[in-house]
Amino acid sequence: MDKENKSLDKLETRKILLSGVKPSGHPHIGNYFGAMKQFVALQDDYESYIFIADLHALTIVQNKEQMNNYIYNIAVDYLAIGLNPEKVVLYKQSDIPQVSEMAWIFNCITTMPFLMRAHAFKDAEAKNKEINVGVFGYPILMAADILLPGADVVPVGNDQKQHVEFARDIAQKFNNIFGKTFKLPEPMIFENIGTIIGTDGQKMSKSYQNTIELFATDEELNKAIMGIVTDSKDVKDKKEPEKCNIFNLHKLFSPDEELKDLRDRYVNGKIGYKESKEVLLKNVVDFIKPIREEREKIQKNREYILDVLENGGKKAEKKISEKMEEVRTKIGLSLK
Ligand code: TYM
Repeated sequence: MDKENKSLDKLETRKILLSGVKPSGHPHIGNYFGAMKQFVALQDDYESYIFIADLHALTIVQNKEQMNNYIYNIAVDYLAIGLNPEKVVLYKQSDIPQVSEMAWIFNCITTMPFLMRAHAFKDAEAKNKEINVGVFGYPILMAADILLPGADVVPVGNDQKQHVEFARDIAQKFNNIFGKTFKLPEPMIFENIGTIIGTDGQKMSKSYQNTIELFATDEELNKAIMGIVTDSKDVKDKKEPEKCNIFNLHKLFSPDEELKDLRDRYVNGKIGYKESKEVLLKNVVDFIKPIREEREKIQKNREYILDVLENGGKKAEKKISEKMEEVRTKIGLSLK
C-alpha cells in the first residue's frame, strides 16, 4: 500500500466533511472566510471531500475556454490556500458520473413545490430571469454531492444553508421510501463569518460586483479597498464601527489589539475613513501576498494539478460507487 492510501485509511473513523466551490469566476474573500478557510483548518480532523462544482457552474458558464480556465484555477486556488491532497480527497464533480445519476433519482422523489421554496430560485424568478432547468434542480444536484459520500458536516456560508437543509429533507424522504440509506448532514457555519459583507455593504458576491478577490494584485486590492462605500462623516466625527463597511473587513484582517485600537478611534472621532482604508489595505496585502505567490508557483505545474484531480477523482469514485450500488439495489434497478 502506498503512503497516500495508508494515510487515507487511517481517516476512516473520523466524521466526514464535504464541500465545494462553483468555478464561475475568481474566488473572493467571502468564499475564503465563509468556507474555504474551514476546509484547510479542518483537514486533519475530518475525512474530507472537497470538490470543484463544475456541473453547478454549467448553469451559468456556457463557454468551453472559460469553463476550462475556471476549473483549473479553482484547483490551483485550493492548493494555494493550503489544502493537502494527501489528506483531502480533492476532485472535480463531473468526474463522478454517479452524482448525476443520483440527482436523477432524487428528481423522481422530489416535488416541484418543494424546489420552488429555494431562495436562489425565488430570487431568479423575482428578477424575471430566464431560469434553466439546471437552476431549478440545483439543490437536487447538491443533495447528490452531499449525500453520496455520506457527509456529516458541510462547511458553507449562510447563502448555502438552505441547500444543505434541502439535502437533509431529501435524504429523509429517500430513507422513508426505500429504507435507511443516507445520513442526515448538518451545515457547518461559524459565527460572524457566515455572511461576509462586500465593498458596498451588501453580501459579498460575484453578481453584485462588490468583491475583493482572494488572489488580487496589489493594484486591484488598492482599487477595491479605496472604493469601499462609506457615509460622509469627517475625521473628527464619532463613528459607529459596526455600521462601517471598512470596519467589517478589519475584523477579518486585524489582530485583536489593532482592532481594539481602531474601534476606540472610531467611536472617539480619531480616525477618518481614508486612513482606515489604508490600514485595511496594508493588512489585506500582507495576508494575500504570500498565498498569491504560492499560487503563481503552483499554477505553472499543470501536470501536477491534473494528477491531483485524477487521483482525487478515483478515490471519490471508489467511495461513492459503493453507496450508488446500495441505492440501485434498494430502489430495484439492480437485478443482482
Ligand atoms: P459558491 O461557489 O457560490 O461559494 C463557495 C462557498 O463560499 C460561500 N460564500 C460566502 N460565505 C460568506 N460570505 C459570503 N459573502 C459568501 N459568498 C459565498 C458559499 O456559501 C459557499 O460555501 N452551491 C455551492 C457549491 C456547491 C456545494 C455543494 C457546496 C455545490 N455542491 C455541496 C457544499 C456542498 C456554491 O455555488 O458555492
